[in-house]
Amino acid sequence: MTHTRRLASLAGIAAIALLTLQLTARAAPKARALKLPPELAAMLKKEMLLLDGGMRELLGHIVRGERSAAARIADKVHASFILKRSLSKAQLGQLLRALPKQFIKQDRAFHGDGAKLAKALRARQLTKAASIYARMVRACVSCHVRFAPGLLARGR
Ligand code: HEC
Repeated sequence: MTHTRRLASLAGIAAIALLTLQLTARAAPKARALKLPPELAAMLKKEMLLLDGGMRELLGHIVRGERSAAARIADKVHASFILKRSLSKAQLGQLLRALPKQFIKQDRAFHGDGAKLAKALRARQLTKAASIYARMVRACVSCHVRFAPGLLARGR
């Protein structure tokens, strides 16, 4: 390869890399920590800690084929949806306005998976249950990437 051709191909590679970077940057959603009133933030933190423990227990049961115990926890994950708690109508409205739409969407999908997981377990579909569990783990991480960047930074 001549010097010029090598330079040209290097420039080509750089251009592709730049384009990829730009595309990635455009595709990546903005990471922004949630700004919630203190009582709501405390509620979310409590729910997260419960979820954290619940998911660990769930894994232990799934890998041992303990379907009933696993299904009971999956039910709880499904029901613990933050917006479904005993809030007054006014509080619920306030909460819905305080949370970004994307957060609500991701939270709903996540808790919906809790119901699907319970169903798969009760139907003795262990492999299906495992893949739903994996999807739920991805949901934890993608919501944290987007809405809890501080939490992820603490782990570095
Ligand atoms: C829809 C969004 C969303 C999903 C889904 C989600 N989280 Fe979170 N999680 C958050 C946010 C936002 C925070 C940060 C709260 C804060 O800043 O204190 C958080 C914080 C946490 C924390 C830290 C609590 C603390 O000590 O402050 C843990 C642990 C946690 N999540 C576990 C999980 C697990 C496990 C899953 C999945 C099984 C999960 N989360 C799914 C949004 C989510």
